[in-house]
Amino acid sequence: MNKFKRTLITTALPYANGPIHIGHLAGVYVPADIYARYLRLKNEEVLLIGGSDEHGVPITLKAKNEGITPQDVVDKFHGIIKKSFQEFGISFDVYSRTSADIHHETASDFFKKLYDDGKFIEKTSEQYYDEENKQFLADRYITGICPKCGFDKAYGDQCESCGTSLSPTELINPTSMISGNQPVLKETKHWYLPLDQYEPWLKEWILEGHKEWKPNVYGQVKSWIDSGLQPRAVTRDLNWGVPVPIEGVDGKVLYVWFDAPIGYISATKELTADWEKYWKDPETRMLHFIGKDNIVFHCIIFPAMLKAEGSYNLPENVPANEFLNLENDKISTSRNWAVWLHEYLEDFPGKEDVLKYVLTANAPETKDNDFTWKDFQTRNNSELVAVLGNFVNRALVLTQKYYEGVVPERGELADYDKKTLTSISKIKAEVEKSIDSFRIRESLKNAMDLARLGNKYLADEEPWKVIKTDAERVKTIMNISLQITANLTICLEPFLPFSMNKLRDFLNLEKLDWNFLGDTELLKPGHKTNKPELLFEKIEDKVIEAQLQKLQATKKANELTEAVATPAKENIEFDDFGKMDIRVGTIIEAEKVAKTKKLLKILIDTGIDKRVVVSGIAEYYKPEDLVGKQVSVLVNLATKKLRGIESQGMILCAENADGSLSIVEPDSKVKNGSEIK
Ligand code: 2FM
Ligand code: ZN
Repeated sequence: MNKFKRTLITTALPYANGPIHIGHLAGVYVPADIYARYLRLKNEEVLLIGGSDEHGVPITLKAKNEGITPQDVVDKFHGIIKKSFQEFGISFDVYSRTSADIHHETASDFFKKLYDDGKFIEKTSEQYYDEENKQFLADRYITGICPKCGFDKAYGDQCESCGTSLSPTELINPTSMISGNQPVLKETKHWYLPLDQYEPWLKEWILEGHKEWKPNVYGQVKSWIDSGLQPRAVTRDLNWGVPVPIEGVDGKVLYVWFDAPIGYISATKELTADWEKYWKDPETRMLHFIGKDNIVFHCIIFPAMLKAEGSYNLPENVPANEFLNLENDKISTSRNWAVWLHEYLEDFPGKEDVLKYVLTANAPETKDNDFTWKDFQTRNNSELVAVLGNFVNRALVLTQKYYEGVVPERGELADYDKKTLTSISKIKAEVEKSIDSFRIRESLKNAMDLARLGNKYLADEEPWKVIKTDAERVKTIMNISLQITANLTICLEPFLPFSMNKLRDFLNLEKLDWNFLGDTELLKPGHKTNKPELLFEKIEDKVIEAQLQKLQATKKANELTEAVATPAKENIEFDDFGKMDIRVGTIIEAEKVAKTKKLLKILIDTGIDKRVVVSGIAEYYKPEDLVGKQVSVLVNLATKKLRGIESQGMILCAENADGSLSIVEPDSKVKNGSEIK
C-alpha cells in the first residue's frame, strides 16, 4: 500500500434487467469480495461499492414487451439482485441503484460541470426515428439487409452473419424493431466527449504509467488507443435515464455508460457524508473490478470524464477478468443459459462457500474458463471435503477423543515437525505475493496448500496408531495440527467466510487479523476447543444430475425456439383451402370434461348457430377465463364423438415451442360468424 492510506473498491454495476449469474460472480463480485475481506483482515481502511445499473435501452424494451414501466422492471430485478448478493455474502459496504435521486443529482451535476467548462462538443446528425412510437432508435433496434452479404436480419451496428460493423444508414430496407415500420431520418443534436483530445494523456497515463496492469487489460487498452480514439456521444434520445440538464433540452438523457460509473460516486455519497475523502484524496487507492467487456469504459472513457472534471482520483488498477462459460457454451441471459445465483442459493442452502471456492479455483483471470457441474462436484468432494474438511475434522475429533477438547502441550520436536512449523510461518508471504497482484486464484491455491500440508502431516504421522505406543508423541502431533487449523481460519477467511466462522466456533477461537497468520502458537496449551461438526459435505451424483437435467431442458427449449420454421406439408390448391369454412365465434360456456385432463366442452356462438366443440386445451386455459373470448372455429368439419360428447367443429390454436397451445383470436372484436379467409 505504502503511498496509500485507504482503498476504494468498485464493482461493475449489473444491469437490473435480469438476475445475477455465475459469470458475473466469477468475473467481478467474488474476486472483489475476497480482496475487500483480505484488506479488512489486515485492518486497512476499505470500501466495497456496488449497485444496480438501471438505465439504458434494453430496460425500456423489456418494459415495453411486458407491458410494464421501466421502473417496474428495475424495482423487480434490483430487489432480486440485492437479496441474492446479501445471502451469498458479498460484503458490500453499500449497494445502491442508479434510479435513486442521489444518483440523478450527482450524474446531472457532473454533466453540468463538464458542460459549463466547455468540455463537450455539440454535433447535429441525422438518426433513424420511429414515427409511430415517436422515438429515435438505438442502433441495436434497427434491422435490415446487410449491404455486404445480403443477410436480412443484420442489426444497425453489426451484421451477425458476416461480422461487418455497420452504421444504421448502411442497412438496406431498415426496419424499426419496435414498431416494425420503416424508420425515417431526422436531425438530432447531441453532446460528445472528444476522446481524441485525451489520447496523448491516456498514452502517458496508462501505456507509460501503468505497465503493471494485467496483460489482458493493458493489451485491450493499447489496441483501442492505437486504432485512434473518436469523440463519443454522451447523450441519447430517450426518456428513461438522467435527463440532460441543459435548459430547453427535452426528451434526451445521459448515455447509460456516462451515468453508470458515476453511480460509484453516488453510492459512496449515499454511504457517507465523508465521500470526498474516498474520491478526491490522493492517498486513496481506487480499484475497479469488472469483466472484460467493460474495459474500454473503465480504462478510457470514465478516466477521461474524471480527468475532464479535474478534482477526482483516477483508478490505480483495473483487474478485469475474462469470461466464464457454462458447460462449454457462452452464458446468456436471454437464452437462460446460466446458473442463476438466487436459484443456486435455493438449491444449495448453506453451500455459499462451495460456489465461491469453485468460482475462484477456476476463475477466468487470464483466459475464458468453463464452469461444469462435474468440476463443481469434484472440487467440493476432493478438495473441500477430502482435504480441508477431512483435515480439520480429524484434528478436532482426535483432540476431543484424546484430551476432551483441550489443546495439549508439544514436546520435543522431530525434523518433520520443525519443517512443518516453518511451512506454516511462510504461508503469509506466499498468499500475499499472489493476492497483492490480483492473482486471486493462485492465492486461494496458496492458502489451500496449508490445508494440504496439514492433511499430509496427519496422514504421515498417524496419531491414531502412535497413541497405542507413544502417547507423549501424539501430544506434539495434535498441537501442531491444531496450530495449522487455527492458521487456516485466518488465511482462508477471505475465501470461505461462512466456513471459517464455523471453524472458529469449533476451535473456540476469536477472529484473528491477518498479522497473526504464520504464528505457530495461536492456540495455547490448555485452551478448550468445542465438539466439531462436518465443515463440508459430499455432493452426491443425483444432485449434479438434477442440475444437468435443468440445463438440458433449457437447451431443448432453446432449440425449439431457435429452430427456423419450415413448411411441414405439401402445397395445396387454392380450392382445397377454400373448402374450409372458418368463422369467428364467441365462447358462451366452457366446462371440463369429467375424468379427462385435457378436454373442455365449449359452447360457441358461431353466428350461424350455437354449437358444442370439444377441445384439448384444458391444460392451458381455465373454463371461466374462456367465457366471452372470441375464437376461430372450423365449422364444416365432420362431427366426432369424444368421451360421449358430439364435437361439432374445431377451435384453431397455435402450438408453442414447449407444446402448449394458444387460441388464435382476432386482434379486435369481430361480428360472430365473420368468415376467416
Ligand atoms: O456491463 C454491464 O453489466 C454494465 N451494467 C456495467 C456498468 S459498470 C459501471 F460503469 F457502472
Ligand atoms: Zn453481412
